[in-house]
Amino acid sequence: MPPVPTTTTSIVIATVTITLAPGGTPINGPVPSGISQPGATTPTWNANVIPPTSASSVTFTAPPSYTTVVPVPTSSNSPPQNITGPPGDKNDDGGDWWLLLFGAVIGGFLPHDVGIPGGITPTAAPPVGWTGGWDDPDPTSTSKNSQSSTSQSSTASCPVATATYALDDDSENSDWAGQGTDPDRRRSSPRAEASLERRDPRHIAVNDCSIVVINAAGEIRLGAGTYYSIGLKLPIGLGTVLSTTLVSSRPVGNGKGLVAQEHVFELGYIDQFFTVATSAGLSCNWIQSNVFNFVRADGSNMGMALLNAIDTRTWFIQAKSNVVNQNKATAADPPQKDKMDTFTSFTTSQDKIQDVEYFARNFAALGSYFGGTADVFRATALRVQNLLAEITPDTPDANLPVEFNGWLRGLVATYPAGCTSRATNVYNYYVAKMNTIRTQANPVPACFPLYSAGVNPQSFTFANLIPPAPTLPSCDIPGTQGRVSVGNDAQGNPVFEVATFHILGSGNTDFYAIGTGTSISNLHHIVNDLSTSYPNCVGSFQIAQNLPSAGFATANITLNCNGQGGNHVNAPFTYVVNNQVLQCALLNKNDGSNTFFTICAPNLGAAHACAASAMAAVSGTYPQAYVSTASFIFWP
Ligand SMILES: *[C@@H]1O[C@H](CO)[C@@H](O)[C@H](O)[C@H]1NC(C)=O
Ligand SMILES: *[C@@H]1O[C@H](CO)[C@@H](O)[C@H](O)[C@H]1NC(C)=O
Repeated sequence: MPPVPTTTTSIVIATVTITLAPGGTPINGPVPSGISQPGATTPTWNANVIPPTSASSVTFTAPPSYTTVVPVPTSSNSPPQNITGPPGDKNDDGGDWWLLLFGAVIGGFLPHDVGIPGGITPTAAPPVGWTGGWDDPDPTSTSKNSQSSTSQSSTASCPVATATYALDDDSENSDWAGQGTDPDRRRSSPRAEASLERRDPRHIAVNDCSIVVINAAGEIRLGAGTYYSIGLKLPIGLGTVLSTTLVSSRPVGNGKGLVAQEHVFELGYIDQFFTVATSAGLSCNWIQSNVFNFVRADGSNMGMALLNAIDTRTWFIQAKSNVVNQNKATAADPPQKDKMDTFTSFTTSQDKIQDVEYFARNFAALGSYFGGTADVFRATALRVQNLLAEITPDTPDANLPVEFNGWLRGLVATYPAGCTSRATNVYNYYVAKMNTIRTQANPVPACFPLYSAGVNPQSFTFANLIPPAPTLPSCDIPGTQGRVSVGNDAQGNPVFEVATFHILGSGNTDFYAIGTGTSISNLHHIVNDLSTSYPNCVGSFQIAQNLPSAGFATANITLNCNGQGGNHVNAPFTYVVNNQVLQCALLNKNDGSNTFFTICAPNLGAAHACAASAMAAVSGTYPQAYVSTASFIFWP
């Protein structure tokens, strides 16, 4: 091994010439791949937010509501403060704690969603004296070192444009979890300019009820997905055509960490829907126990199932929040107004003006984004709607899948106009601001082509985003209790089964289920295929009560409300198997037990033929048995 050089030295390794500074550090790095330096130090990167150095206490925050204020140890031999993050949080070491040391130094790693209002995010700048190529070692941090851009197209009168797009989302939209914006783009709020929110654990919430469901998997993983883009900010232009590409991880776009990954169907819709439901009279207790604590037939939890159902994400520049949050809706207060209000001159505000133009172009393409993601949106909404259809509440105060569909339809119907009017408002406000700077001697330069070109906001067909409306009966909704009659006696009086029945959510949005249990995770009517059990039974089914663990399909029912609403309607019903309505015979045991077997088929003749075969098979046990025709009525 050669000695450590004491002067600047050139060495040749495998035909590559490397210049070493005194002490042996390579000058013209990076070292070619394939060449390693024994004993060299690999730089490591700690992305912790740095607290304000003069602080006597440090505030740590994490969404949705974690805040802790910790005093800074007063001398170098004071014990460090050991701080625990929000429940479920994990840092890069796999722990949930970190230390605050003398001098406001942070020991260990902050979990990614913990921020410090007023803190500074370290940026990845190259070491002093570095002359080689430079890749940001932490792609999620914002690099101060502006990426040198090769494809500039500026007219002679325009200074070189910045490649990075640097507009934060409007501050109204920073609470993504409550309001449904993207989970991932870092933002600063105007009140605490450097306060940062970072990758949250995914969660859904009903904020007014303090209900939160947090994904056990922890922080959001930014992964593969479809990237929707109108193209890069450079060259400055007028394009608003949305194109899609599949990416394996976060696309770079106009700068590392700038493209947001967002849920096509917002997590925040759960909050919006149930907030509307509470103002319509549903109590928080009802929502907590009947929805979020509901146990599904497979034993899993409904709150977590709803959260998981929504986890479909795409990559898109931030432009959607104002529409889904229904804010910044007027011509006088359009999206990004605050940024436009800071325009002072065409030169000092050049970057911001060009960012606003790029934002306005993205907003113009937002309708295409909604249209392009309609299939994903509708499929996600359908998963949520079907989950809500599984629920049987303890009191029949809301027909959740029906209300959800109506609510979503009403909401999304406002989006096309929400997209086009806001894009127009942004543009008009932009032109008005530019006009306040413009004078005859100082016209708007060509570096801002949108000013004279205008925007043409795109729209979409909102109905494509909405799953089919449930066709569930509007009387005796799940949670209604009553008796069941199976026919009439010789005097014409109904013959009742000896039990209390519940109308149950079946998970189907056309039919309910029924049973003596309080949901389909409990005792309820199921179907047992008799095709191979007795002669003449092909296509016939026995209806019986059982638990989901027995493995039979739930028997669904039609309910004839006879045009009436409310939960006090005596409603005839039939069983439905594979969407086919069945007619049924009763095989009365006639052994003094007052019990019977229910045997159903697509028509009454087939039901009787199968019941007769079954009766022959059990004649040893029930010699007095006989078959009658069933007609079921639910009596609440
Ligand atoms: C900080 O507290 C956690 C428990 O909350 C503990 O596991 C950890 O060892 C503590 N760290 C130090 C350095 O005291
Ligand atoms: C009843 O509806 C549920 C939910 O759609 C479905 O899983 C089940 O198979 C249906 N039952 C029958 C027997 O068709």
